[in-house]
Amino acid sequence: MRTILPINQQWYYKPSFEPADVASGIEKERFSQVQLPHANIELPYNYFDDRDFRFVSCYKRVLSIPEQWQGRRIFIDFEGVMCQARVFVDGTPVGGHQGGYTPFSIELTAHVHGGGEHILTVEVDSTERPDIPPFGGTIDYLTYGGIYREAQLRAVPQVFIQDVFVKTPDVLADVKQLLAQVTLDGAMENGLALDIALLDEGRELAARRDVPVTADVCLQALEGLADIVLWSPQTPRLYQVAATLRRAGEVIDQVEVRMGFRQAQFRPDGFYLNGQRLQLRGLNRHQSFPYVGYAMPARVQRRDADILKEELGLNLVRTSHYPQSRHFLDRCDEIGLLVFEEIPGWQHIGDQAWKRQSLRDVREMILRDRNHPSIIIWGVRINESQDDHDFYTATNALAHELDDTRPTGGVRYLTGSELLEDVYTMNDFVHDNGYSRELAKSIRNFGTYDATQVLDGAAIALRQPQQVTGLSHPVPYMVTEYNGHMYPTKRFDQEERCVEHALRHARVQNASYATRGIAGAVGWCAFDYNTHADFGSGDQICYHGVMDMFRIPKFAAAAYRSQKSPQEEVVMEPATYWSRGERSIGGIIPLVVFTNCDEVAFHYNGKHLGTYQPDRQAYPALPHPPVVIADMLGDWGCKWEDGELVGYIGGKEAARRRFTRNQAPRQLRVAADDFCLNAGDMDATRVTVAALDQLGNTMAFLMEPVQVSVSGEGALIGPDRLSLIGGQTAFWVRTTGQSGRIDVVVESPRLGTQRITIEVKQAG
Ligand code: GAL
Repeated sequence: MRTILPINQQWYYKPSFEPADVASGIEKERFSQVQLPHANIELPYNYFDDRDFRFVSCYKRVLSIPEQWQGRRIFIDFEGVMCQARVFVDGTPVGGHQGGYTPFSIELTAHVHGGGEHILTVEVDSTERPDIPPFGGTIDYLTYGGIYREAQLRAVPQVFIQDVFVKTPDVLADVKQLLAQVTLDGAMENGLALDIALLDEGRELAARRDVPVTADVCLQALEGLADIVLWSPQTPRLYQVAATLRRAGEVIDQVEVRMGFRQAQFRPDGFYLNGQRLQLRGLNRHQSFPYVGYAMPARVQRRDADILKEELGLNLVRTSHYPQSRHFLDRCDEIGLLVFEEIPGWQHIGDQAWKRQSLRDVREMILRDRNHPSIIIWGVRINESQDDHDFYTATNALAHELDDTRPTGGVRYLTGSELLEDVYTMNDFVHDNGYSRELAKSIRNFGTYDATQVLDGAAIALRQPQQVTGLSHPVPYMVTEYNGHMYPTKRFDQEERCVEHALRHARVQNASYATRGIAGAVGWCAFDYNTHADFGSGDQICYHGVMDMFRIPKFAAAAYRSQKSPQEEVVMEPATYWSRGERSIGGIIPLVVFTNCDEVAFHYNGKHLGTYQPDRQAYPALPHPPVVIADMLGDWGCKWEDGELVGYIGGKEAARRRFTRNQAPRQLRVAADDFCLNAGDMDATRVTVAALDQLGNTMAFLMEPVQVSVSGEGALIGPDRLSLIGGQTAFWVRTTGQSGRIDVVVESPRLGTQRITIEVKQAG
């Protein structure tokens, strides 16, 4: 049987590389000891040089090969190295890889021996090599550097199972079947046979045994499958398929993959999951975090999926603009969050060699991820690139060859672009609430701007599909971005801006729901992200998220969250800081309340001013339009009073929020996402910090410092002196590998000291 040894600890790292490093041993004084996932440099939160992570570094590790591995084939597997790796064992080159987002394996059999100790050296080139996508032009995100995902050693028999791909051709029939395509590696021998079994948490539901192997790719069917629960966002039911390889009856290898039974189809009139139309509501996600960029362990990756589904109420995420962590995708499978996954790239298409590398990206992405039921479409164009008939004919053909079960899309901003994919996927940035028209008018007054260039209907939310495709017939169509740079908004921006930011998301989603030919809309974007100097607010941050980089919500987050059904969660989020003089001219009107309640009662200074229903006139198609309260509350110069909002569902009180006229900081709330972490490989959790007023509301403009200290079996990621940003911040704490406890202390000069304890236990 195969054996897997994770090798995520005891790495030695040096932020430089010289050819002599290859032949040398591990001179510990020149290296620091690190764990994977690892970032080649820790960056500040903002304001840094966007070239700081672009260098070549050296990673070393002792590989101790178990005695029992004698006679077996031995591989090293890397999940992600940014962006080019060259691998050496005892000074000998053994292989390498280009591309920072997909895994690679190198066979070490000829270079190591059972019972031996060997020196592994990895030269990691994290420069933005123009020969590797997404590089060659400018890109609006940072790619960071290092061995930023996990690695392992794997011992397998001479002939072993290389890959198992499971298809479910007729999921809507009462009795279903499953096709397992098993690929073997190694010289074929007589007497090899395969077993295929469908399992439900280890319980065998169906199996075929001892089917003789006649070729290195074997297709096996399991038929007559009854009582299968379909996978969907409501019931993300997963099964396992086990492939077992036997030689003369004896088991020599086994691989188990997780899968689900579901049918996902894009049709000209929308997206259908298991035969039912489902309007897709999503956001784009970059996989980056403050300080360490991409290098976050499984729990933190998984948590992002939970945030998207639970805290933002989405049913789809686009992994813009590259294949993301397998942990994130695994969690999407488990919780029923649909995924649009795409190849690395951003606007630029390189030369023939670059295109060949991009085709390798298509291959590696699909081979890694084609068993995830959550993935419903492959993105096989370079995001927002120009048409390129031959290149995109090739990416589409390859995607369909590797996976004939999923449609392709290719994200463009071009109208009338050549449709080579199954779905026309479009970044439609038309909505600006009339801003470009106004801008044109005012600039025209200076006589320098041709206002005719500006769309007359600039206040529209989305264009009609056929207006975009230019085709005479409807085709499957999805909006893959909107908003973003059209209205960058910081969490602590002026209230009016934060409200308008949220409303733009609501308007576009309303238009998506209202247009039958639009399968759904995926906004830009879930989380703020670090970016190059060519983009963002001049501080290396694009403030385009509905949450900030710490995953702390802006008002726009509530525009999404409030679309959940109240059975899932009652949401009532008034988009206000409750102050008389924050908005232009003063007041808080119109007061937008993002809610899934039937109605909201508004009390001011203890008086009931009115009860308000969702604004179905302005947002007729949204599942839960916001409530908009437009009653004036006195003039500038009047006394400002306390307020209260009460949400009702079916006539019963379901939510209540109170606001004080005179906010003062009363409490520092410190909370960890997890209070129990795993020893062993690196684990981490987020700790959020919020300054709360007398009523538990956060304080939108409090910028006080806090001092963080972490002791015990944990370490702080990032700096230990932080400023609250708009009353809140967060940080991540990681484990050291040992079990024990982690003590976290957060001190604020005004709000006192809070302590929390996180347990670290041996997993299992
Ligand atoms: C798009 C691009 C995204 C991001 C966004 C900002 O053009 O695909 O990566 O830059 O604009 O709105």
